[in-house]
Amino acid sequence: MVSVDDDINIGDTTDLPDDTTGMGTPCDPEKVYFELQILPLLRSNCAKSGCHDEATHEEGIVLTSYEKVMTTGEVTPYDLGDSEIYEKMTKTDPDKRMPPPPNNPLSSDQINLIAKWILQGAQNLTCDPDAGNCITDNISFSATVKPVIDNSCRGCHSGAAPSGGVSLTDYNGVQAIATNGRLYGAMSHQPGYVAMPFGGARLPQCTIDKVKAWIDSGSPNN
Ligand code: HEC
Repeated sequence: MVSVDDDINIGDTTDLPDDTTGMGTPCDPEKVYFELQILPLLRSNCAKSGCHDEATHEEGIVLTSYEKVMTTGEVTPYDLGDSEIYEKMTKTDPDKRMPPPPNNPLSSDQINLIAKWILQGAQNLTCDPDAGNCITDNISFSATVKPVIDNSCRGCHSGAAPSGGVSLTDYNGVQAIATNGRLYGAMSHQPGYVAMPFGGARLPQCTIDKVKAWIDSGSPNN
């Protein structure tokens, strides 16, 4: 989690989003993860234009996010018989089935996955497929390092009086602390450095490993 306690009054933390990506939490093969497994399936098969996207919302059903699936798809946790989207997917009469012809019905694997998700309580679980399998090849500043800094550090390390006199709003600022060792020292909570994010939890190990790989490759502006 990168949430920062409200009672910290140093710097501006209002821009820091809560971590809802499940970063660092390994995926449990027994559990069904909504964002990772269910939503992509609904988006590609049901939330198409002319069907259940925001614009068309056939019969008021919109299948584009967790909240919308739960409410407009009338999903009842633990209850397949009382979950509208599941019922429609499993109809044998093609005139009543969703997705309707000429679209193919969902495969039995896909339907089973949705059933499993509902029977596990139709939760919005998240996990990190990278956890335990962290890939640190080809790390670039723009694709990996900058988003981490923007999400977890920039709120405090920007503006007229950046915290600790360290400004992290652009490549030059980040490169300066990468080169002098402070970026890795602070992020990985090494002795002799002030632990960052200040007042917050350590970032997931995979994130730290990726930043370290970038530093070790000479902190390029790529
Ligand atoms: C909630 C505000 C806040 C956040 C978020 C934050 N910092 Fe800091 N940072 C500070 C403050 C305050 C200091 C000065 C601490 C001190 O000198 O006691 C500081 C100091 C530092 C220093 C110098 C530390 C040293 O020991 O030399 C570095 C490097 C740094 N921050 C990097 C980061 C990085 C990287 C992140 C994101 C992973 C981050 N900070 C997130 C507030 C923050």
